[in-house]
Amino acid sequence: MNRRDMLLKAIQAGVLLSLPKPMQFFANEKKDAVLTEMVGNALRFPPVFTNGGTMTLANSTVQVWPSQNTSAIAINGSYPAPSVVIEKGQQFTANFINNINEPTTIHWHGVSVPEIMDGHPKDAVVPGGSKTYTFPVISRGGTYFYHSHGDMVTAKEVYKGFAGFFIIKDPAENFNLPAGEYDVPLCIQDRRTADIPEFTYSPGTNEMTYGYLGNTVLVNGTPDAYFEVKKTLYRFRLLNGSNARVYKIAFSDSRAFHIIGTDGGLKDAPVSATTFTLSPGERVEILADFSGDTIGSNVRLVSTAFTHSGTLPYKQGIALDIIRFDVTATGSSGGVVPAAFNPITYYDIGAITNTRTFTLTMGASHPMHKINGLTFDMNRIDWEVPQYALEEWKIINNTADFHPMHSHGLQWQLYSRNNNTNLPPSDKGWKDTIILAPTETVRVLVRFTDYKGIYLFHCHNLEHEDDGMMLNFKVIDPIGIQQIGTSVPSEFKLHQNYPNPFNPSTKIKFDIPKAGNAELKIFDISGREVAVLLSGTMQPGTYEADWNASKLSSGTYFARFAAGNTVKTIKLILAK
Ligand code: C2O
Ligand code: CU
Ligand code: CU
Repeated sequence: MNRRDMLLKAIQAGVLLSLPKPMQFFANEKKDAVLTEMVGNALRFPPVFTNGGTMTLANSTVQVWPSQNTSAIAINGSYPAPSVVIEKGQQFTANFINNINEPTTIHWHGVSVPEIMDGHPKDAVVPGGSKTYTFPVISRGGTYFYHSHGDMVTAKEVYKGFAGFFIIKDPAENFNLPAGEYDVPLCIQDRRTADIPEFTYSPGTNEMTYGYLGNTVLVNGTPDAYFEVKKTLYRFRLLNGSNARVYKIAFSDSRAFHIIGTDGGLKDAPVSATTFTLSPGERVEILADFSGDTIGSNVRLVSTAFTHSGTLPYKQGIALDIIRFDVTATGSSGGVVPAAFNPITYYDIGAITNTRTFTLTMGASHPMHKINGLTFDMNRIDWEVPQYALEEWKIINNTADFHPMHSHGLQWQLYSRNNNTNLPPSDKGWKDTIILAPTETVRVLVRFTDYKGIYLFHCHNLEHEDDGMMLNFKVIDPIGIQQIGTSVPSEFKLHQNYPNPFNPSTKIKFDIPKAGNAELKIFDISGREVAVLLSGTMQPGTYEADWNASKLSSGTYFARFAAGNTVKTIKLILAK
C-alpha cells in the first residue's frame, strides 16, 4: 500500500458512525431487496505519518466508541498512533515531543536502529522535552511497530494508545502481492467492556500476574469492526498490540489462508494454514482469498478458545471476535499467492560459538517476574555478546504462564520448541518475538550484525516487562576483528592472509574506505559457507580478522569479502 492509498483509506474510513450503517444495494440486486442492517463500525485506519515530521505525545481525547470520548495518551491526537510507511534504504526521521507528565521514549520494535535511537528507558525524554529519532531504514521489508518504552510505564502508555505501525516497503521485493486497498494492516488490541468509553488502567496483583486482559477487541482502534471486501485476494498484516492477550487466530468458518510473513518480513515461501498463535508484540502476514464467497455473506476473524489459568472475565484463552469481513462486491486485487519468496538462509547450528540459558520464573503470590533470578536494572549490563557471533539462546519457561520473549537489536531464528525442530509456519522465518507456552523451552539462534551497544531482552507481556522481566545486554566488538588503522584507505582491499598455509589460525587484513555494509565469509572448496567473520555496517578503516580453523580439516578455503559493489576473494590453505 503506498502512502496515497493509505491516506485515501484513512479519509474513506472517516469518523465512526453513531448509528449502524445500512448496507448499500449491490449493482446486481433489485431495488426491493431486503435492506440488511450493518452492525458494527467500519474499520478505521490511522493517518499516515509524514517522514521528517513531528510526533507529539499528549494526553488527548479520542473517539473510539461512537459518540463517546476516551482519554488517551496519543501521538498527534491519534489512536492508534499514526502509521509510519517507509521504503527500505531511506532515512527515517521523527521529531518527538513529550508533552505528558512522565519521562518516556519511543521504541521501534523489530527495526534495526543504533543504540541511542532504540528508545531504551535510559534514554528517556523528560516531560516537555524532545528528541529527534533518526536512522537509516536497513531492516527487511515487513510489518513492524513502534510504542512506548518508558521505565515501568510501558504497559500503561501502550494500553492508553501509545503504539502504531512501522511498515517497511522494499521495492526490491516484487511478488505481485495484493497492494493498495487490498493490503490491510490490522492492529489487534483488547479492552474491557466494563470500562467503556475509558481505557482505565489499574492493574492489581492478579493483573500483574497474568497481564492486563480485556474481553473485547479493537482493530485499529475500531470496536466491533467490520471491513468490506471484494471477492478477491487480500494481504492482511496482523499486529498484536495488546498488553498481554494471546490470540489463536482463525476464520470463523475455519477456512485456509496463506501465512506469508513473520516479524521480520516475508517468509521464504507462503504456507497454507487454518490457525496460528499471535502473542503480544508479534506480527504475522497472511493472504486471504474471498473469491469463493457470495456477495452479501460474511466471515469473521476470531480468536478461538484455549485452556489457560486465570479468572473470568479477564482470562487468557476466551473466545473472541476480532473483525468481520463483509463480502460486498466483485473486484480483483490482481494479487497472487506466489510459489516462493526470496530464500532465507537458516543458521547452521554447527556454527554456534556460545550457548546462553535464560530461565523465566515468577513469584508465588505477588509476582516479580524474573529472568535468571534477576529483575530489570537500567544501569546493570547483564551479559555481553560479540557482534557477528552465532549464539544459541536457550529460554526455559519455569512458570504456568505465557511469555512472549523479545529481543531488541536484531531478528533471530527460532530453532526448536521442546527440542522439536518441526516448527509451525508462523514461527519459521525472521522473528523478534517468540511465545513460550507454560513450561516450554525454546532454542533461538541469535546473530547481531547491524549495531553494537546496549539493547533489551524482555517479556512482551507488558505487565511482566514493567514488573521486571527484562534485562540489558551489550553487543560488543566482534571476536577476532580489530581495527588496526584509523586513516581512511582509498579503496576496498582484501590482503592475502598470513601465515598461509596456516594451522590452526590466520590473519586476514582488509580496508574499508567508506561506511557501509561489509561481509567477510569463509567458504570451503565445495562452496559451503564455513564461517562468517563479518556481516554488517562498518566504519572506514583498516581491519584485521583472526580466523581460527581448529575445527576444520586440512584443505583449501576461500575468504570472500564484499563491500558495496566490490567482491574480492583470497585462497587460504589449511595444513594440519
Ligand atoms: Cu516491543 Cu522492548 O519492545
Ligand atoms: Cu522491541
Ligand atoms: Cu511474561
